[in-house]
Amino acid sequence: MRKKIGLIGAGHVGEELSREVITKELGDVILYDIVEGMPQGKALDQSEATPILGVSYIARGTNDINDLRGADIIAITAGVPRKPGMSREDLLKTNLNIMKDIAQKVKEIAPNAIVIVVTNPLDAMVYTFYKVSGFPRERVMGMAGVLDSTRFRSFIAMELGVSPADVQAMVLGSHGDLMVPLPRYANVAGIPISELLPKDKIDAIVTRTRKAGTEIVNLLKTGSAYYAPGISVARMIEAIVKDQKKIMPASCYLEGEYGIEGVFVGVPVLLGENGVQKIIELKLSDEELSLLKTSAEHVRKLEEEVDKLLGL
Ligand code: APR
Repeated sequence: MRKKIGLIGAGHVGEELSREVITKELGDVILYDIVEGMPQGKALDQSEATPILGVSYIARGTNDINDLRGADIIAITAGVPRKPGMSREDLLKTNLNIMKDIAQKVKEIAPNAIVIVVTNPLDAMVYTFYKVSGFPRERVMGMAGVLDSTRFRSFIAMELGVSPADVQAMVLGSHGDLMVPLPRYANVAGIPISELLPKDKIDAIVTRTRKAGTEIVNLLKTGSAYYAPGISVARMIEAIVKDQKKIMPASCYLEGEYGIEGVFVGVPVLLGENGVQKIIELKLSDEELSLLKTSAEHVRKLEEEVDKLLGL
């Protein structure tokens, strides 16, 4: 059956995501934003390209969130992005109020939707949605790991001059400076990167990955990255609508996995129909596990702030 895909926020990321969803024929898009006319204009523009693209799905823009009623999947990019000099955490208070209102509304109009949160600070925002909506954890996830991992993969490919498509690598943890790239599991066509690159080069790639979002913010000067983020969310939507059972990192609510309790943090999951089908517990070294736990404790502090602001 055709899927109804609701996108809340039609800014830079929402727009790219909409384009990718219809181009890849993942479903019909309802593109919602509070700015009058803007989502309608973007959706119409994209839909007018569909005959040339030869695709059978369209996007429709709206300023009425009720048009998302009954959506199968909802991705939330609504909020304010970073400017140079700002951390993702600086966005917390502003975006928390937006997320709270959206979660209350989504609970009412699309109680069975699978929800992917993209708004920053990511792990705290997905926690806000989870708390306010009361949705089961399998249906609430944050997109950060797919983006951080594709950045990590692209930097490895650039360093080696190999096809990016041949590079596999994963980044766990929170979306920020404390993210946990896993070079030990990274490989090019099955060859571990430790066989192809010296340690100092790998360390430099890990550092660049941690700061990759900021690198783009500093170059753009007026906002944050949107193309790779949009594509990353679309890949998660594709895994769900096609029940692909793909393994990818997502920010999930942990209930004891990796020895972490009550925190949203990026971990590998099996993604398919109905959302997160399984959280995969990788064997981590002591150092990797300690980095993941530090990352989770950082999110826990933000979650405590969210609880306070929500009056929980
Ligand atoms: N409901 C719907 N849309 C909203 C709301 C709301 N309550 N509040 C703001 N918006 C919309 C804005 O009107 C804007 O069009 O959210 C959109 C955000 O778009 P951009 O400012 O272009 O930001 P973008 O680059 O798309 O990033 C969105 O994703 O990666 C994160 O940090 C980033 O939190 C940011 C989010």
